[in-house]
Amino acid sequence: MISKIKKIAVFTSGGDSPGMNAAIRSVVRTCAYLQIECIGVYRGYEGLVEGDFKPLGARSVNNIINKGGTILKSARSDAFRTKEGRKRAYDNLVTNTIDAFVVIGGDGSFTGAMIFNKEYNFPVMGIPGTIDNDIFGTTYTLGFDTALNTAVEVIDKIRDTASSHNRLFFVEVMGRDVGHIALNAGVGAGAEEILIPEENLGLERLLESLKRSKKSGKSSSIVIVAEGDKTGKNVFELKEYVEEHLPIYDVRVSVLGHMQRGGSPSCFDRVLASRMGVKAVEALLEGKSNFMVGIQDNKIILTPIEQAIKGHTKIDKELIRVSDIMST
Ligand code: F6P
Repeated sequence: MISKIKKIAVFTSGGDSPGMNAAIRSVVRTCAYLQIECIGVYRGYEGLVEGDFKPLGARSVNNIINKGGTILKSARSDAFRTKEGRKRAYDNLVTNTIDAFVVIGGDGSFTGAMIFNKEYNFPVMGIPGTIDNDIFGTTYTLGFDTALNTAVEVIDKIRDTASSHNRLFFVEVMGRDVGHIALNAGVGAGAEEILIPEENLGLERLLESLKRSKKSGKSSSIVIVAEGDKTGKNVFELKEYVEEHLPIYDVRVSVLGHMQRGGSPSCFDRVLASRMGVKAVEALLEGKSNFMVGIQDNKIILTPIEQAIKGHTKIDKELIRVSDIMST
């Protein structure tokens, strides 16, 4: 393949997610396979502005496929939001004879790439890495599957103690804007109710459901709450609300927090990252730019970055129905 692209930079940006390292590895190894150079940029756009670069060869990414976090570190960059910052980034890329970059991150990271591409006509490619699964143009983002497995494993443990004491637990999972983690982990862990940002199921309904489950003889209950759920109450406020209205319940709260972002990626995320990395590099070499790599119907596809940013993922209504039926 004869291409103008001879040197590609890769970096991770925004909140980290399991599978980012596997994606870095894939980009680096694909470059090595196609005999072009690869440069790692540390700390996302911040490193681009500061010129924090390091050449990466096939052996630089040994033993990272199984590691959580990102070896290249991640950051949110204020400097890159300014014209001067982006000019510095461009100068650094030119000085280092870099022809294109691959950014692994979420929609904020893609917005940065799109603006940069518009200003400098610089070839860019995105790989979706976020546990939230909230990027349009891909059924799965890197880290979502691992985060679900982490959440379910922990909620299973909470269930043990909840049922030993006949308690009700409110478990908060990540997702300030979307309920994909809450809904999937909730169904997977057998939650009584799932509260998400996309739909307000109402506090009345929650009380009714809890009354019903007490009556039907359930020994314990787990309610999964996404960070940004629509009831407007956080898990601690929900605890107080239920204690006030249903004093029969002994309520506890557990906030899973950033543990959901860490840990060794699942096999699914490793395979997805490997496939996406190959596609990102190959697409750049084919002269494509300003796309995000995604997966749909188990096929690796490209979506224009602009669409990926502007589009919204939809909550799976069928899963809501399944959850309702399962909590009978
Ligand atoms: O976007 C991923 C995410 O994990 C969200 O679910 C969560 O609300 C947020 O990041 C937390 O961000 P930070 O690590 O900056 O507190």
